Parts: sequence; structure tokens; C-alpha cells
Amino acid sequence: MNTMIITLDGPAGAGKSSAARSLAARLGWCYIDTGAMYRAVAMVALEQGIPLEDSSRVAALAESIQIVFQDGSVLVDGRDVSAEIRSERITLATRPVADAPPVRDAMKRVQRRMADGRNVVTEGRDQGSVVFPHAAVKVFLTASPEARASRRHLEEMSRGRDTTFEQILESQSCRDEADRTRPVGALRPAHDAVLLETDSLSCDEVIDCLIALIEARKQSPQKTV
Ligand code: DC
Repeated sequence: MNTMIITLDGPAGAGKSSAARSLAARLGWCYIDTGAMYRAVAMVALEQGIPLEDSSRVAALAESIQIVFQDGSVLVDGRDVSAEIRSERITLATRPVADAPPVRDAMKRVQRRMADGRNVVTEGRDQGSVVFPHAAVKVFLTASPEARASRRHLEEMSRGRDTTFEQILESQSCRDEADRTRPVGALRPAHDAVLLETDSLSCDEVIDCLIALIEARKQSPQKTV
């Protein structure tokens, strides 16, 4: 059987990270967290003193570092950066990096090389729409603003951060608007993506739906699922 790619796109808080990670673990497939990749590039650019707005240097950097996902950790050139890339400082630095077309182009090439010849679960806003337009299964995970904010609130609290549900809901709605309207890498479902609304689904139920989609695709590889 040929290798297969499943793409999970969707807004923050729709549950795509936990779904993608668990799905990859359950299937024994390679997992690509593209948000972590943008974060890692921003982190190394800061470390090396490369101005974030110098998009051609940042793009070259993106192609020169080696990012590996291993046992739930993110390694950059062998160094575990999992915690550091989630800091507020790196979150802020990642935005201009992810907005730059040359960096997105470089990242697209890197992500395609990572997936080459493998079974892959890949997660990010543009995976089905831009990076892997021929992926066998494309899913756009959605959830209501309240459900998404509530998940993020729980996440933030588990990381010991002191924010309220209302603050998260408000910053999420600003971020959604910016995401929908940004000139490159805008958040939109691929035309052939399956929309999966996760409000009332547990993570396990989401995984079951995804596995059903993959199985259906294996049964009828020529048909759109
Ligand atoms: O999903 P996340 O919060 O880890 O993503 C980090 C940043 O990278 C965020 O600003 C969205 C952006 N991003 C992107 O532009 N394209 C992707 N495929 C993944 C993330």
C-alpha cells in the first residue's frame, strides 16, 4: 500500500493538536506539528540575532535547521526546545515569521521533504489547502468560539498561567479575525476538506472519526471521502 497523508487544519482550540498527536501515536505514523516548526524557526532566529523582518535570511534559516518530532518532544538540531517554543516571547516572535511569504515557501518545501515516503499526520492551518493539496484525507476541525476558548483556558491553567475565560475569548476573536484576513497563510478549509465540528466530541471520539475517514479512503482510494 502506498503511503498516506492526513491533514488536520483549523483554528486554535478546535482540538487539532491533541487529535493529531494521538492519531499519529495510535497509527504509528509520523507526526508533523507545523506551528511548532514556525515557533522553532522564530526561536533560532532570535538566538542568532537574525532580524525577524529579514524574511530571506529567516527563510534560509528555516531550510538549514533540522526539526524532529520525537516522543512528544520537538528537537532542533538535536536540542529539546519543546518548552521554550511555547513561551510568550516566542509566540509573539512567531507571528511575523509565519506571515512572511518567503518563510512560508521554505516551510512548505521542508514539510514536503519531511513527509516524503512516509505515512503522515500533519497539523496546521494550511496543510490541506496549500502544503499537501493531494493529501488522501483532509479534515478541517472546527468548534464554537466558546468551546475553543474553554479548552484553551484549561490548557493555560494547566500550565500555571493566570488568565480568565473572558480574556481568552476576546483575544481569540481578534486572532480569528486576523487569521481569516491575513494576506498569506489565511485560515480556510481546503475545498475538498471534511469539516468536523468537535464541540460535543471527546478527543477519543474525534480520533475514531478520523480513523473511520482513513479507513473509508483506503477502501475507495479514487473517491473523495
Ligand atoms: O498552532 P501554533 O499556535 O503553535 O502556531 C504558532 C504560530 O504559527 C501561529 O502564529 C500560527 C502560525 N502557523 C502558521 O502560520 N501556519 C501553520 N501551518 C502553523 C502555524
